[in-house]
Formats: sequence, structure tokens, C-alpha cells
Amino acid sequence: MAPKILCLLIVLFLPVSSFAFSFQFHGFNQSDLTLEGDSKIVKPKGTLELTKRVNNIFGHAFYNKHIKIIEKTNAPSPQPKVSSFSTCFVFSIVSPSSGLGGFGLAFTVAPKTHFPEAEGGHFLGLFNSSNDMNASNHILVVEFDTVNGYKGNVDTKGNHVGVNLNGMSSNVTQPAAYEKGTNEDFNMEDADAVCAWIEYDGETEIFNVTIAPLGELKPSKPLISKVIDIKSVMRENMYFGFSASTGQRKASSHYILGWSFAVNGVAPPLNVSLLPKPPPKEKGSSSSPWFKVVVGILSASTFILLCLLLLVTLYKRYMRFETLEDWEMDCPHRFSYRDLHIATKGFIDSQLIGVGGFGSVYKGVLPSTGTEVAVKKIMRSPMNGMREFAAEIESLGRLRHKNLVNLQGWCKHKNDLLLVYDYIPNGSLDSLLLNKTFALDWDQRFNILKGVAAGLLYLHEEWEKVVIHRDVKSSNILIDGDFNAHLGDFGLARLYSHDQVSHTTSVVGTIGYIAPELTRTGKASTSSDVYAFGVLLLEVVAGRRPVHSSGQFLLLDWVLENCQLGQILEVVDPKLGSVYDEEQVELVLKLGLLCTQHKADYRPSMKQLTRYLNFDDPLPGISESRHSASQSSPTSFCFLEGMSTGLIASSQSVSSFGRSTMSIETGI
Ligand SMILES: *[C@@H]1O[C@H](CO)[C@@H](O)[C@H](O)[C@H]1NC(C)=O
Ligand SMILES: *[C@@H]1O[C@H](CO)[C@@H](O)[C@H](O)[C@H]1NC(C)=O
Ligand SMILES: *[C@@H]1O[C@H](CO)[C@@H](O)[C@H](O)[C@H]1NC(C)=O
Ligand SMILES: *[C@@H]1O[C@H](CO)[C@@H](O)[C@H](O)[C@H]1NC(C)=O
Ligand SMILES: *[C@@H]1O[C@H](CO)[C@@H](O)[C@H](O)[C@H]1NC(C)=O
Ligand SMILES: *[C@@H]1O[C@H](CO)[C@@H](O)[C@H](O)[C@H]1NC(C)=O
Repeated sequence: MAPKILCLLIVLFLPVSSFAFSFQFHGFNQSDLTLEGDSKIVKPKGTLELTKRVNNIFGHAFYNKHIKIIEKTNAPSPQPKVSSFSTCFVFSIVSPSSGLGGFGLAFTVAPKTHFPEAEGGHFLGLFNSSNDMNASNHILVVEFDTVNGYKGNVDTKGNHVGVNLNGMSSNVTQPAAYEKGTNEDFNMEDADAVCAWIEYDGETEIFNVTIAPLGELKPSKPLISKVIDIKSVMRENMYFGFSASTGQRKASSHYILGWSFAVNGVAPPLNVSLLPKPPPKEKGSSSSPWFKVVVGILSASTFILLCLLLLVTLYKRYMRFETLEDWEMDCPHRFSYRDLHIATKGFIDSQLIGVGGFGSVYKGVLPSTGTEVAVKKIMRSPMNGMREFAAEIESLGRLRHKNLVNLQGWCKHKNDLLLVYDYIPNGSLDSLLLNKTFALDWDQRFNILKGVAAGLLYLHEEWEKVVIHRDVKSSNILIDGDFNAHLGDFGLARLYSHDQVSHTTSVVGTIGYIAPELTRTGKASTSSDVYAFGVLLLEVVAGRRPVHSSGQFLLLDWVLENCQLGQILEVVDPKLGSVYDEEQVELVLKLGLLCTQHKADYRPSMKQLTRYLNFDDPLPGISESRHSASQSSPTSFCFLEGMSTGLIASSQSVSSFGRSTMSIETGI
């Protein structure tokens, strides 16, 4: 029995011989590890992939057996002691070149391998916000982090190494670096792979962590070397392994290529040539200088492209105002919509100076020159052939005469057409004639008529092309500050008629001014302009509209009647009183009748008319007419060839126009 007891005693009092254990993996075999979460072994070389580059995932891999890490010291007072351990592994982090890599990778010592309630991201799939740093976790973490630390914690730098007990606040942390003569900082994300060594001395409680890029020798000086009491964290049996996670927007792939481990011994060194090849880095994260140059050039050109894109966007936004077709580019009379928009203060109502059948007229001041203009806005303009239209406008824009409302230019905006004219301050002739409180005196009226005649003459005969006005009427004549006439809207009527399906059926003009042949043929001519001018002559003398709104009164009939009764001066505007030149008034009235003859051929040309108006030529001798007996008397003048029939025809046509007549009104 004694030897037996002795044996027992010997066993009891001998120092407990240290348990020694080690393993070494160059690449992994499925059966070596317990995999949790999203981790997996990538065939064929056995790279351990803890996370892919996918947001919000985590993965763990632990050596498949737990390891006894606490040993009891011998008597007299048995004290638990953490065994020394040593490990060495190679990891690789592949981040997107965008810089949105994360979250981190950690060497993990834990009492279990499964963490169902843990969170990813910063918590590495090991902890959650409520149990972080709770001593009941019993987890030791050595983190190799590439993202700034959590909240206000110590590890506020990205690219750092830290030792954590029971949570994500580090007991000690250091920016990633290694000793190679001097202290070399390096980016763990940029390195193809990183070797890490962790050593813990159970006697001195010194915790060493050392890192270096794969291929470098193990640095002699650890990055972290500190006394850390890990006793409280350790349980008797612990699992050793790795954890990694990605975050909401930061996601790197985390890989382990090889791992060796030893308890109570030195971890066997890894043979680099036996390791799986590090996974390829994302293009652009290489640190070769040439690559940096290429990346620099690429990012510079990207920047330039972005700037261009921005410019194009701004230009397009500007051009939303200004959608130009190519043919519009080289029209000298084209205004930019922007300018007109500014000029008219955005076409606000307070700038509105008139509304006509086709649109509104706004007063404006051009921002570039400060000149006053009238902008006529024709909404939903009927023109289909904008191009032909523009050509026409371009040519009209070249017309310049002191008795025209000169067209300065135009602008097309979406379906609207904007015409820019000289601004003429005193409004239209008809408004002055019908104004109850203001009377134009005879000299002014005569001057106005001469001016209109000069303008029409210019259009008909003096410009390079014959321009038929088509809508001569008092509301189209604008009066300036010196009571000079400016004929407006010339040539436009034709543009409108362009759009009509059949040219022959279209009649453009205004009731009361339309020559009889126009209603039959629809074909405007210089003599139909002369007819309208004739009506205007009568209107200015009489101060009455050519057709009363009731349709009962026809100015032409009335003048003719009075003419035939020998009392032509009866028609003179009562507002003139008797202050007028009888000779001139008579001339104008007779000219009015002469111009409104039924047969177009009998009407004088504008050139001839101008001579009559200036008393350069006497009115045609009545001898030429059938009623040669009553030469040159006002009454005989009233029976000129075709006049009465023309009158009947025109009065009929007036009453039958109704719908077919387009009236172009001007508000200028
Ligand atoms: C993995 O390891 C087990 C034993 O640890 C071995 O039987 C198996 O052949 C290995 N498989 C591979 C693919 O190496
Ligand atoms: C955190 O994890 C613990 C277990 O480790 C669990 O009891 C707790 O409910 C979890 N809290 C949250 C907020 O998930
Ligand atoms: C730590 O966790 C335990 C069990 O999960 C819990 O009872 C305790 O209240 C926690 N302590 C703190 C400080 O949160
Ligand atoms: C780090 O560990 C030492 C020793 O265990 C302890 O005194 C200290 O409070 C710890 N510091 C932190 C920040 O956990
Ligand atoms: C830890 O590093 C120190 C030097 O900084 C060294 O003296 C010590 O031996 C190392 N400990 C282990 C277990 O390698
Ligand atoms: C590493 O592995 C290669 C290939 O098996 C072998 O030739 C070499 O001797 C090994 N090196 C060391 C230091 O063991």
C-alpha cells in the first residue's frame, strides 16, 4: 500500500506539468474549423473567407475543438492561471477602391462559437449594443480594424490594431505599423496579405501583438506589448478563432490564408510558399507608383468629365428656356428667350400693354441694350413650318423705315412665338381717333396719313421685295410722341395664311378693310392694301369705324352717299370742328373713294397715291370717267367707274364674312 500512497503523494505534489498543444494550417480544410455565419472555405486552396464584400454580414471560424487555457497552479494555494499561448496567422483584406471598406477582422477567444444575438458592423458579430463590455461575455478580441472606432472610444483611428476585453472598447490600441529599422506605418487594406503574431505570457501577463506585411521577417519589436490581465475573461476551456463583419455601407472581404497555434509553446512558423495565394485586390487599390499615376489621370479625367456633365446639365437647364433647332442658330434677328423673359419681367401682367386676337403685347426693356421694346407673344402659334416662318421673319427683320413699326427680332419658345418690335409710346391710331377726351387735329391726321402712305409705298415698291401688308387698319398704326405714324404687323398676315390648308379659301384681314376681290379669290395684292388704305383715309377724316359694330353703318356707303349729295364735308369728324384745311380734307376723302373702287385695276398705286397726297399730281380728271360732264366737281367724282357696284359687293361680303375672316389685331 505504501508505494501506492507514495505514488499518489508524488502525483499530488509534483508541479502540474504544462499541457502543450499546437496546430498549423496552410490553407484550411473544412473539418479543421467550425464555421459560423457567412464564413466559408474557398476551394481549391482552402482560403478561409470570413466575409464577402456584402453589406451587413459577419462570419466566424473557430478551431473545431475547445482548448483548455486555464491551469491550476500547485498548492499550497491553488490559483487559476492562464496558460501562455502563441499564434501566428496571415490575413488579407480586400476593400473596394472607393474607400468604403470595413468593418473589421479579429482574432477571437470565446467560450462559444455561436452568437445569435450579436450585431454586425462595428460589433464584429460578437457583441450587441446592450451587452458590449459586459464582463459576462468572456470574450477576448484582438482587432485588426480598418474603420474608425466606435463612438467616442479609444480606437478612434482607422487602420489600427487593438486588444479588447468583453467588448469593442480597446484596452490598448495602436495604428498599424511594423518595426523595420524605423517604425513603418502601413495600410492593412493595401497589403496583399498581413502576418500577425500574438503572444501571451501566462507568467508575466505580457500581451504582445506584432504585424508585418506578408514576406517581411517578423519584426523584433511588437506593435503592442503590454501587461494585460486576461484571467477574468478566460474560462477553463475556450474556442480560438476569427471573426469578421461588414457594415451598412462599408464592406470588405476578409480572408485568412494560414494559421498556426500553440499553447505553452511557440506557434510553428508558417511557410509562405505553402499558403494559398492572397486574393486579388480590387483594381485601383494597388500602391505601385505607376498605378497611382494611372489612377491620378483617371480620377482627373473623371473630374473633368463630371464638370462637363455639370456644364451640360446647366446648359440644358438654361436651354429649357431656349430649345434651339439647328437652323435657329444663325438667325441674326433671333432673341434669346431668357433676355425677353428678363425684359418683360417674366411676362407679368403689369407689363401687358395690349391683348389681341393672337396674343398679348408686353412692354419691356432689353437687358443688354436698355432699349424699350414691345414684345408680342403669340401663343400656340399656328405656324407649322417654323423654318419657313423664320426665314420670312428674318427677311422682314431687315425692313427699316421711319413709318414702320420695325421688327427687331423674334424668338420661338415651345409653341409660343415672340416678336420684338420698337416700342411706340402713344398707342394705336384707332384708340386716338375714338378717344372721347382727346382729338387729333387735322394737321396731325394729315401727317399720319402721309406717313402711312410712305410706309406702304416702301413695302410695295421701295424695298427689294414686294411686301403686301394684308392688314392695313387703324389699330395697326401706332403713333409716336411726335404724332408720326408707324405701320405695324406688316407681312405677318401672309405668314398666317401660310398655315392654311388651302390658300384660296383663306381670307386674311379685318372686316371693313377687305377688298371685294379678296373675298372671291383670297389673293391679296398691293391693290387690296390700297383698298384698305382707302378705308383708312375715310376713317381718319370721319373719326368713325369703317363698320359699326351693329353692322348697320358702313362708312364707305355713308361717305359715298354724302359725296353724291354734294355734301362730302358733312362726314368730317365733329371733333375737328371747323379747324381744318378744306382742300386737304376733300382730297383725302376723294382719294379714299378712289382707293376703294370695286375694280382693283382702277385703284391707284401707292406711288401715285403719294403724289396725290402731296399735291404733286391733281386727282385724275373725271374726263376719263363716263361722267365727263361734271368735271372735277365732288359729286361727279362720286360716280367713278365701278364704284357703286364695288360698294354693294363689298358691303355684301362684309356681312357674309362672319367666320371665315381672320382678324389680326395688334395691341401695340
Ligand atoms: C481534411 O482533413 C481531414 C482530417 O483532418 C482529412 O481526413 C481530409 O482528407 C482533409 N481533406 C482535404 C481535402 O484535405
Ligand atoms: C444582446 O445579446 C444578449 C445575449 O448575449 C441578449 O440577451 C440581448 O437581448 C441582446 N440585445 C439586443 C439588443 O439584441
Ligand atoms: C451583463 O449581462 C448580464 C447577463 O446578460 C446581466 O444580468 C447584467 O445586468 C449585465 N450587466 C450590465 C452592466 O449590463
Ligand atoms: C486594461 O486592462 C488593465 C489591466 O487589466 C486594466 O487595469 C485597465 O482598466 C484596462 N483598460 C481598459 C480601457 O479596459
Ligand atoms: C513580448 O515582447 C517583449 C519585447 O517587447 C519581449 O521581451 C517578450 O519576450 C515578448 N513576449 C513573448 C511571449 O514573446
Ligand atoms: C516551405 O515549403 C516548401 C515547399 O514544400 C519547401 O521546399 C521549403 O523547404 C519550405 N520552407 C521551410 C522553411 O520549411
